[in-house]
Amino acid sequence: MIGTITVMSFKGGAGKTTIAVSLAATAFQAGLKTLLVDTDPLRASTLSLSARTMPGPDHLVLSPGALFQNGSTASRAGYDIRIVDTPAAPKADVAAAANCADLCLVVCRPTFLDIAAVLASAEMIRQLGRRGAVVLNQCQASRGNHEPPSIRRAREALALTGLPLAGVIGSRVAYQQSVARGLAAGEIGSVAAATEIRSLWDYASSLLKDAGTQTNPAHLKLVSA
Ligand SMILES: Nc1ncnc2c1ncn2[C@@H]1O[C@H](COP(=O)(O)OP(=O)(O)OP(=O)(O)O)[C@@H](O)[C@H]1O
Ligand SMILES: [Mg+2]
Repeated sequence: MIGTITVMSFKGGAGKTTIAVSLAATAFQAGLKTLLVDTDPLRASTLSLSARTMPGPDHLVLSPGALFQNGSTASRAGYDIRIVDTPAAPKADVAAAANCADLCLVVCRPTFLDIAAVLASAEMIRQLGRRGAVVLNQCQASRGNHEPPSIRRAREALALTGLPLAGVIGSRVAYQQSVARGLAAGEIGSVAAATEIRSLWDYASSLLKDAGTQTNPAHLKLVSA
């Protein structure tokens, strides 16, 4: 297995489920045996992937506390990638999901309150010794080569969190339509959305492949405890 991506944010409605489902469907399209684990009691990603009518990622509901053991089970079952959708709270559940991640993707809208909330995620990721990156979601579209000021300001503010920017995702009807059918945005024909999600996937998967050869300190701590 190349790893586990935990999609998180302490702000409700930032787009965790939308990004988790779209990434899982993109990984599946890239030929990976993909498992989406839904740890949110609201079961939004389960609802989304249950609506998918064509072959796609497998999905499973688990409590965050069961994620660690599920990592070995998923590996033995031949999964290449595990993507974990999380609730916005409680913090302990988000921490359990983050602690099992090879990469934590923090979803954030380009607004003051969302960016402020990233500071808490960044601190949690740092304390757990995990790798993290931010996805700016629901962004105003760029016109030509001109990035909207809201995104430029968000980039500057996010630099203070110490987390790199994994991708910028536009606010598009394609994401609302695709999550309703368990699809990646590109699977419903939006070229712009397909390009954004593909680029996010390329970023995330290349980080996972890099990390594959590195030691996982949290795992060692647990094994030796
Ligand atoms: N890039 C986007 N463009 C347009 N709409 C989006 C986008 N991302 C998410 N949305 C919409 O925003 C709303 C919240 O998205 P979503 O449910 O994925 O967020 P969430 O972080 O998982 O929420 P929760 O905290 O409740 O689990 C949904 O209506 C979704 O369709
Ligand atoms: Mg959700």
